[in-house]
Amino acid sequence: MKACLLRDGKVVALPPTPFAVLCALVRQPGVLLTKNALLDEVWGHQFVSDSVLKTVISELRTLLEDDARQPSFIETVSRRGYRFIAAVNTSPGSSRGAARVAASASHRTPSFIGRKEELSRLHRAWDGACSGRCEVVWVAGEPGIGKSSLIEQFLGSLGDDVVCARGQCMEHYGNGEPYLPVLEALAELCRFDSGVTALLHAVAPSWLLQLPWLSSAEQRDALRSELPRVDLDRMLREMGEVLDRYTEGRPLLLVTEDLHWSDRSTIRLIDYVARRRGTSRLMWLSTFRPAEVIALDHPLNRVRHELRLHGMCEEIMLDPFTEAEVAEYVAEHLSSLAGDEAFIRALHERTDGVPLFVASLTNEVVARAARDADSLPQLADLPVPTHLTAIIDHYIAKLGTEQRALLSAAAVCGVEFRASTVSHALDRDGVWVGQACEELAREQLWLRGPRLHDGSRAPEQPYSFRHALFRQVLYERTAPLARAQLHRKVRAALEKERAAGVPVTAAELHVYACKPPGGMDIEPSENPAGPEREALIQTSTVPPYLSGPGCEDCPVGRRMLVRDGSGQTERPGLDLRQGSVAGVW
Ligand SMILES: Nc1ncnc2c1ncn2[C@@H]1O[C@H](COP(=O)(O)OP(=O)(O)OP(=O)(O)O)[C@@H](O)[C@H]1O
Ligand SMILES: [Mg+2]
Repeated sequence: MKACLLRDGKVVALPPTPFAVLCALVRQPGVLLTKNALLDEVWGHQFVSDSVLKTVISELRTLLEDDARQPSFIETVSRRGYRFIAAVNTSPGSSRGAARVAASASHRTPSFIGRKEELSRLHRAWDGACSGRCEVVWVAGEPGIGKSSLIEQFLGSLGDDVVCARGQCMEHYGNGEPYLPVLEALAELCRFDSGVTALLHAVAPSWLLQLPWLSSAEQRDALRSELPRVDLDRMLREMGEVLDRYTEGRPLLLVTEDLHWSDRSTIRLIDYVARRRGTSRLMWLSTFRPAEVIALDHPLNRVRHELRLHGMCEEIMLDPFTEAEVAEYVAEHLSSLAGDEAFIRALHERTDGVPLFVASLTNEVVARAARDADSLPQLADLPVPTHLTAIIDHYIAKLGTEQRALLSAAAVCGVEFRASTVSHALDRDGVWVGQACEELAREQLWLRGPRLHDGSRAPEQPYSFRHALFRQVLYERTAPLARAQLHRKVRAALEKERAAGVPVTAAELHVYACKPPGGMDIEPSENPAGPEREALIQTSTVPPYLSGPGCEDCPVGRRMLVRDGSGQTERPGLDLRQGSVAGVW
């Protein structure tokens, strides 16, 4: 049976934990469930505070459009717990505790775009698992690239009889609780299938001890005297046995999300399961962010390389949306702009095709257009949506002081910058800056390394921010005084480089020419004159969504098109990332 929440026949997307809380409440309509009972049932033995439960309840209320003061579904019983108060109809076919129950919510992402090849790879792996192979599959990619959405879509496309158990890794300090996501998945499986509890009693006593609500106090005392300490190796072997035996009856899909936060034991278990010669009909599907795995030197990195080397796992690396996919997304959400190629291109460039960014900016444009139907939303003028800012702030907070100083100077240079400019601006050793940029590029979060096949004549190839939005937020997070000072220093560095004959890019021309938006004045620069006029082509048709904040003051910004490096195309200058204006100064 596929478990999901429907409203008017449509699936309502609900993450696993709120879904589990809702199920717990609905299973006992009209009955007060204390906070402790809910915490025990949904989070098991993990230590979770009341506030987490409160947040989940308020999330559910928002989804159900339920008013806490006049509830129709979930009633709060002051200081004690919650009660499900709506009428509950039980459909005749549903039998609690039946063995073949999908152990998780599975639902389709509304208007899912692309990913056909990835979906068919997942289906091939599932077919392999069903026919007796153990399949370990990773879905990898940067934050917001669509890993979870792909998994939701895949789950939604599987038949109703598929048994799926899910576990989530949590960001933690220190080593993290051993096997946390596996325990979560196992607890979920036990809730729906009492056969699993019996199996744990028979072959996996160490795991049973980790799920104390599945046994009586006497049973636990007896187990503890047999197993006085947790033996992680023994747990590996026991789980191998559980998986073999459980999947004799039916294939199992195990999903563990966000392995970049996983504890070491879980990674060892995946490694063990992938290598052992068991008979499990198992597909173990996980997601992770490579940038975090590399930056944290997470044990997953070594394991994934080794398993890949031996053909024991499959890795699906997700790419950003193409321009055509962004167009498809816009057509679904913002039909009035669906045919506007310039808008689509600008949206693709501003978001780098990362689906989360595409979705956020599109929502923002939709909201603005709804408020003011007559004005075309100005894409580049839109602030970064709040929850995106929060995500980016999270990564800014992880930067070391020196990395942050380097990136703040780079952010003033533009989306593209040369290490030498930053080194001059910060008065730091060029080798150190180059090395630090290399490291940031290797971590695959902040920077992209120089493009080797770039046709540019510049002797030093530039680095670039992986995402224009990351650069924008970092720039905005630099205090105005520090920003003005950085602008001065970057300008001085550019002049020095220009005097040494280094070709200057269009983005740098922009830095040189304008003052920091909303910031302190810097000395005005002169308008370009002479040969540079040839590179500046008058235009009166720059669409509003291509103009940028802070450009109002730029003496060249409003009216230029700059030829890009190939000399083939012309684009409005302010968003140029590669434009090289040869001989401008
Ligand atoms: N294929 C898709 N079609 C339509 N929208 C998508 C697609 N993939 C992702 N999105 C949009 O992007 C958002 C972020 O995607 P998702 O949560 O799947 O990213 P993720 O890779 O799991 O990120 P994280 O690493 O933070 O967990 C989704 O909520 C959805 O709005
Ligand atoms: Mg995700």
